Amino acid sequence: TKKAFIFDLDGVIVDTAKYHFLAWKKLAGTIGIDFTEHQNEQLKGVSRVKSLEKILVWGNKSISDAEFTRLMAFKNDDYLTYIDKMDEEEILPDVTKTLDFLRGKKQYIALGSASKNARMILEKVNILEKFDVIVDGNDVTKGKPDPEVFLKAAEHLNVPPEHCIVFEDAVAGIQAANNARMISIGIGDKNTLHEADYVFSDFTEMDDDFLNELINR
Ligand code: G6P
Ligand code: MG
Repeated sequence: TKKAFIFDLDGVIVDTAKYHFLAWKKLAGTIGIDFTEHQNEQLKGVSRVKSLEKILVWGNKSISDAEFTRLMAFKNDDYLTYIDKMDEEEILPDVTKTLDFLRGKKQYIALGSASKNARMILEKVNILEKFDVIVDGNDVTKGKPDPEVFLKAAEHLNVPPEHCIVFEDAVAGIQAANNARMISIGIGDKNTLHEADYVFSDFTEMDDDFLNELINR
């Protein structure tokens, strides 16, 4: 039977966290809030709305709804100037190799991302066509650690959650996969992602035997 391999986008396929950081930092600066890399870490996997809410709490600021909307647009417009310059070179090491290996084994490939820019980014780096289904920030009402994004992908493919494998770099994303009762594979730091079933620092660390085991279990 076919398994579904569900990939997060930011931090798994491409390193867009650095662009999110620059855009949030610029935005925070315009309203007199300091924004650190450590805080940026805590926004991984967190939606745009929730991210701005957190930044305002950290900066101890309250603003009107109209201003909130304006700041959200400001951040995204700035973020998109970085995305616009992206190309295939920005795909993280061995991601394409892994996608092609799984496709060669006739497995399903899905995207499960909180980003509303997901399709555009996949197009930019030219791997959109490798995905059987894309579920992103436009398709969900509940953010990670809620399992909605991953369960929707599984539903579209008609694959039961226990036959789904999720690749995630965010703690909230690993929790979402676990909440969906899927196999969770952390991409990043072992200590940070200790709740995952397996952790690899990146895809170069994952060999074909491991992937074959996931396919055949
Ligand atoms: C991913 C990133 C988050 C980002 C979210 C929404 O989960 O890890 O840092 O806030 O997507 O992205 P968007 O592109 O819609 O602003
Ligand atoms: Mg991520």
